[in-house]
Amino acid sequence: MKEQLNQILSQALGQVSSVTSQQELEAVRVKFLGKKGELTGILRGMGKLSAEERPVIGQLANEVRAQIEQAIEKAQQDMAQRLIAAKLEKEQIDVTMPGQKVLLGKQHPLNTVLHELYDIFTGMGFSIAEGPEVEYDYYNFEALNIPKNHPARDTQDTFYINDNIVLRTQTSPMQVRTMEKQRPPIRVIAPGRVYRSDAVDATHSPVFHQIEGLVVDKGITMGDLKGTLEVFAKRLYGEDTGVRFRPHHFPFTEPSAEMDVTCFKCHGKGCPLCKGEGYIEILGCGMVHPKVLLGCDIDPEVYSGFAFGIGLERIVMQRYKIDDLRLFYENDLRFLTQF
Ligand code: DAH
Repeated sequence: MKEQLNQILSQALGQVSSVTSQQELEAVRVKFLGKKGELTGILRGMGKLSAEERPVIGQLANEVRAQIEQAIEKAQQDMAQRLIAAKLEKEQIDVTMPGQKVLLGKQHPLNTVLHELYDIFTGMGFSIAEGPEVEYDYYNFEALNIPKNHPARDTQDTFYINDNIVLRTQTSPMQVRTMEKQRPPIRVIAPGRVYRSDAVDATHSPVFHQIEGLVVDKGITMGDLKGTLEVFAKRLYGEDTGVRFRPHHFPFTEPSAEMDVTCFKCHGKGCPLCKGEGYIEILGCGMVHPKVLLGCDIDPEVYSGFAFGIGLERIVMQRYKIDDLRLFYENDLRFLTQF
């Protein structure tokens, strides 16, 4: 029996040392130590032994069991350790790898310049007002001295919600809305989106932005208009910027003008950018038409005012030398991150 026990021990140790998984190890444990295992079989047969032999074999059997148990436990620990080591190896982090860049958003160039305009005009005492993009025909046309059938409507075709409601074609309706609510003195700018039925190309978009300006008070003259807008142009484009006013026609101002600034590329000499003119047009303006004042219950015999409308896209394009307006709306980061 002694030999049998020693044989079991060396077999068990041999098998424990060669297992590769928990399942195999468990199988070895059942095989030697289980209820029907080999060692148990030996112990069962001990009844046949003599009284002298029994304690000796019994002690040996216990030692063998203890050794096998120990070996199994050690194998188990080794295996767990190997698993952890393997996992750590697999999940190793290379701390020298460059991190992932977190992209930080930035202001859209249209907004950057719009806020410059806010600074310039609020610095001159203007306040900022906003009005609806879905507007009554009355405010967009009628109250601005553009009756139904007026040819000016042709150049400002838009989306009609119904006969009386349109997507506004200009921010000028804010002149009327402001004068209805507020009594002079008035100094306000009104930025916002406007809509026209125009096909998209490098210089046209059915949606674009304007900034309207309105000043109404006693004794306002064309001199105030020219002075204010010249200061604006110099603040925006630099002190060496020259301006010129060309007579023009708008139904809601009289007299009306367009203001040009000296070309920032050639400074007035004439170049391809300004088409040889030396100047580039940036806004429309004029003295508020007496009819418009009257319509808002402001007496044109007592009060006078001037108004102007700036195309935001146009001045931003000039500022940054952008030659295609579609770039503003495409949200291409290669474009937007340049500003
Ligand atoms: N609303 C005009 C347009 O969209 C621009 C304009 C011209 C606005 C003269 C004005 C102004 O306030 O006085 O073409």
